Amino acid sequence: MALIIGNGPKAGNGVSSAATDSILGRGMSIDRTTIIAAFEQTYSYQPRLVSEAPGRVNLIGEHTDYNGGLVFPVAIDRTVAVAAARRDDDVVRVKSLDFDQCDEFRIDAVKRFMGSRGWRDYVRGVAWALQDENIPLRGCDMVITGDVPQGAGLSSSAAIEVAAAGALAAVAGATTAGRELALVCQKAENLFVGVQCGIMDQLVSVLGKAGHAMLIDCQSQTYEYVPLPEAVAIVIVDSKVPRRLSDTDYNLRREECAQAAQALGMDSLRDATESMLAALQDPLRKRARHVITENERVIRMVDALRTRDLSTAGNLMYDSHKSLRDEFEVSTPELDLLADLSRACRGVIGARLTGAGFGGCTVNLLETESIGRFQINVVDRYCERTGLVAETYVCQAVDGLRVADV
Ligand code: GLA
Repeated sequence: MALIIGNGPKAGNGVSSAATDSILGRGMSIDRTTIIAAFEQTYSYQPRLVSEAPGRVNLIGEHTDYNGGLVFPVAIDRTVAVAAARRDDDVVRVKSLDFDQCDEFRIDAVKRFMGSRGWRDYVRGVAWALQDENIPLRGCDMVITGDVPQGAGLSSSAAIEVAAAGALAAVAGATTAGRELALVCQKAENLFVGVQCGIMDQLVSVLGKAGHAMLIDCQSQTYEYVPLPEAVAIVIVDSKVPRRLSDTDYNLRREECAQAAQALGMDSLRDATESMLAALQDPLRKRARHVITENERVIRMVDALRTRDLSTAGNLMYDSHKSLRDEFEVSTPELDLLADLSRACRGVIGARLTGAGFGGCTVNLLETESIGRFQINVVDRYCERTGLVAETYVCQAVDGLRVADV
């Protein structure tokens, strides 16, 4: 099989999942036999491969990727899986098991079309973008399923793009390097789906590494892996407030950052410094201040994890949340409450909103033995205060895209 990227075994981040599963829901891995059986049932023959791509949680470095900045995400054990087989013609048939819906198109006739077909846009979008990058494709049959929560800020979009692109490229026998595949998926999201996302989600979904976070410099698109500390759990809490107006507001924030950079006479905010802020008016000044300080926090966070200075790491996460709340203005009262409850809970190292904001999840670093207390002091209290039942799970850092023959 041509396209094998990051296919090492799954590894944990020091969390005993057996001990925590009963307390907190944990991401299920997609069962390969189930998706293979579903393919056989749908098309009456066997798939040739299964392509699996993870969602992600970002530990720190939010709204910096499209400013040429630094991010620090982890690929998590919530994935989208695609079973696929080549056809003799150039028709693509796709079935989404989760939506119980189908799509069909001719591979050479897929046209750029700004989204309105839901999940179908991601598959058509990567089919279009791969060919736009001169990667020839073939007809194929696919089934898709996944367990990355949608609209929760855990990159379900990137996971479906990467899993589908991995399957389409592999079925056609194309060899595509990891970074190029991520860029193709970002192109599909920017130009086909219509969300002006940066490169973070797609890069970590393709190239994430088990047991590690990924420090990505989004300007040079270079990266390095940083081992996650032992006996520290990554716990995601879904506030159960779906992202509100996220695409519109996200694109607006991106536009504000571009305006701030332009006002400073720079291509991006990457090289802006705090001394330049006086030249800007609010809200552009606030947006730029967040980006400048967040890039610094990423560097300090990586250093803190490397030296196991967990108290500094935690404070940087709380500072990041505050900056996203007050300067970038992408938090919600529910996310603020979750971060505050975490801060008051013994054994929590740090917490912040993760992803685009406007709803979705917090990411929490915990001493592993504190997970039971976290459930009571954070999740149960959140429920009492808001009436919302937050979904919480301990996540493992896994490898990025895995394409394997059946
Ligand atoms: C979304 C986007 C990413 C990134 C984050 C905010 O997840 O897809 O590219 O901009 O928001 O950090």
